[in-house]
Amino acid sequence: MQNLNYKVDGQKVFVNCTNNKFELTVLTPEIIRIFQDRGFSQNSYAIEGKKIQTTDFEIRENEDHLELKTSELIVDIFPDSKIDVYDKDKNPLVLDYRKKRTPLDRQMSQDQKRLAEAEGHDVSGNLLKTDRYFEVVKKLANDEQFYGLGDKTGFLNKRHYAYDNWNTDNPAPQVENFTRLYKSVPFLLGLKNGHPYGLFFDDTYKSHFDLGKESDNYYFYSASSGNLDYYVIGGDSLKKIVENYTYLTGKTPLPQKWTLGYQQSRWGYSVSQERVERIAEKLREYDLPCDVIHLDIDYMDGYRVFTWRKDTYEDPRVFVSKLNKLGFKVVTIIDPGVKKDDKYGIYQEGVKKGYFVQNPDGTIYVNRVWPGDAVYPDFGRKQVRKWWADNCKYLVDIGVSGIWDDMNEPASFNGDIPDDIVFSDEEKKATHAKMHNVYGHNMAKATYEGLKKYSHKRPFVITRAAYAGTQKYSTIWTGDNHSLWVHLQMMIPQLCNLGLSGFSFAGTDIGGFGSDTTPELLTRWIEGAVFSPLFRNHAALGTRSQEPWIFGEPTLSIYRKYLKLRYHLIDYLYDLFYKESQNGLPIMRPLVLNYPQDKQVCDLNDEYMVGDALLVAPVVEQGQTKRLVYLPEGSWIDFWDGNEYQGKTTIIVDAPIDKLPLFIKKNTILPWNKEMTHVKDEPNSEITFKLYGDNGSYQHYQDDGTDFSYEDGKYNLYDINIGAESIDINLLHHDYPLYKNIYVELANKKVRFALEHNKYVEK
Ligand code: GLC
Repeated sequence: MQNLNYKVDGQKVFVNCTNNKFELTVLTPEIIRIFQDRGFSQNSYAIEGKKIQTTDFEIRENEDHLELKTSELIVDIFPDSKIDVYDKDKNPLVLDYRKKRTPLDRQMSQDQKRLAEAEGHDVSGNLLKTDRYFEVVKKLANDEQFYGLGDKTGFLNKRHYAYDNWNTDNPAPQVENFTRLYKSVPFLLGLKNGHPYGLFFDDTYKSHFDLGKESDNYYFYSASSGNLDYYVIGGDSLKKIVENYTYLTGKTPLPQKWTLGYQQSRWGYSVSQERVERIAEKLREYDLPCDVIHLDIDYMDGYRVFTWRKDTYEDPRVFVSKLNKLGFKVVTIIDPGVKKDDKYGIYQEGVKKGYFVQNPDGTIYVNRVWPGDAVYPDFGRKQVRKWWADNCKYLVDIGVSGIWDDMNEPASFNGDIPDDIVFSDEEKKATHAKMHNVYGHNMAKATYEGLKKYSHKRPFVITRAAYAGTQKYSTIWTGDNHSLWVHLQMMIPQLCNLGLSGFSFAGTDIGGFGSDTTPELLTRWIEGAVFSPLFRNHAALGTRSQEPWIFGEPTLSIYRKYLKLRYHLIDYLYDLFYKESQNGLPIMRPLVLNYPQDKQVCDLNDEYMVGDALLVAPVVEQGQTKRLVYLPEGSWIDFWDGNEYQGKTTIIVDAPIDKLPLFIKKNTILPWNKEMTHVKDEPNSEITFKLYGDNGSYQHYQDDGTDFSYEDGKYNLYDINIGAESIDINLLHHDYPLYKNIYVELANKKVRFALEHNKYVEK
């Protein structure tokens, strides 16, 4: 072939084209990496460990192109460096676009631009064009939808929208024209004429996705700098794409079980021990199940991280253990900004050891965050992460059960941190431009390591900023939303897309963080979020209070009803996390993940599923008491009245203020826990399984819900099968105290099974 030479070395193919060189790596039959060295380091923060599996592939020289073929993918490589990827049946997945881009004509002269800017309009255009700019432009089909991208505003299907990858702290109401939020996850899932694929661009520099906004003929990814380094991911279903992507970047690990409980928070509570204790007492007094109370920045001494104020707290250990006795775990916030204060130990030590990021002239870089002038730990360095992890011991020793990492985009109140501030990329010197998007990732990783080392439990970290792969270390919340109906609406696509992007453990601030909530909005929010993995009510300082009792009745009773529903189903969520830790499939998911061939669900923004069995259709409109619900193929059972519906249809359901429309796929078994105020540390002695429909099968996982002993086999796996004639309960694995009794609830009866010699016998 003219103008194209190649060399195969193991699973790499080195390609030499006219004026261009790049390499392809076959990682698995379904994952191919395309890489071009543009002179930057090749260190990946998203992908850790060896991911290349020995894979057979063929190379064939055709007349005008080279063909690389695995059992699942076909890659055509052309002498002009264009690359087209097909599935094994030659269905197009990702094809290079051959023509020139046609940027949007914004019909604006320079003078007009200045005029618009004078009033504050944003007409800045392309912010990425630097001397190291590059772009990757792909063909767009008429029938092509986009999902994923981590944490973005707007709707489920990202087609026709454009987004940036640059972690940003902007607390203004984040609506669909916001192109960037706190996290950057440059992973795109596509459905091209019904054929799924994934594209992951592993570049931490500022980058941009245009998903058919500029043109209906192409979509593109562009970056301000870095290597050309992307992965094309195949698989026969969207589920498989997610599984493959999380094979690369990691799965959310099995969490501690109590982290799935309800969590109460508000910026301002923690100014004093008394105020926090009052909240705890009220939660119990009003019979509101709850597992966690969060302490926001006010518990610290002058916002100095790893300190505790003394004026309004007696002994923090005694305080935390008091809350623990009431069944609450305590989670404390930690920010990266270390107060510039010569008398403060963390600052002194960091300065002495050179742990803070620097100006190009070698002096320490200073900006402003909560404590006033503050400096930034250089989390890109292993040593600094270790130092931070060791500091977490202070909190673990006090009895804190989890750490909430905030402001780690990193936020800076005194203007943006300049691109050239010196950060480290492991042992090499790098710039803020390169390390910005992984700053939160590295902080979360340090926190994870600290919690693991000192608590020996499964770390519970919540981070605001993240990059692809952060899910291995931390759960996330979506940052500063507002008490607005549009933000309740956005919660569904936002959490669903996060779930598709590896972040299975995610949540929004229930009730809304900024602005003042209303009783109706708070009620609909607790209903809509009842299955969101991270389940926390949080509000900003100065906003109207929004604890469940603030609005009196009926808000309080409805709120309680949904907290109790959550706790009844906590084992279902835990079972889903057990599976997720193996296959990466999210807990809360869009219908399109389960029914990718159903055109009705490609753009469905106001329903979601929990695993494969529950379909949730919350009311997200003010004043609405009825809504349309689309049910996909199969039969569905209304959770509240047991009515059965045939799917592939839209129904109207009544949804008065106390009702969350909820449907169960027919022939589902659900584990059902007894009522509880919080998740207990002791093993449960019984559980109930409820059958919806005529028959079903279910696998249930049980362990101590806290430490890593499950990795040594200390867990139970139950297999429940209910047929027309019989019920079988088998143990697939057991090395943890077993339930003494298992109840099975059928339409007309409840059957008890008792444990006898490691077998369950019907009574
Ligand atoms: C940031 C966080 C918010 C927190 C506040 C004070 O705005 O996003 O959750 O309450 O800082 O720490």
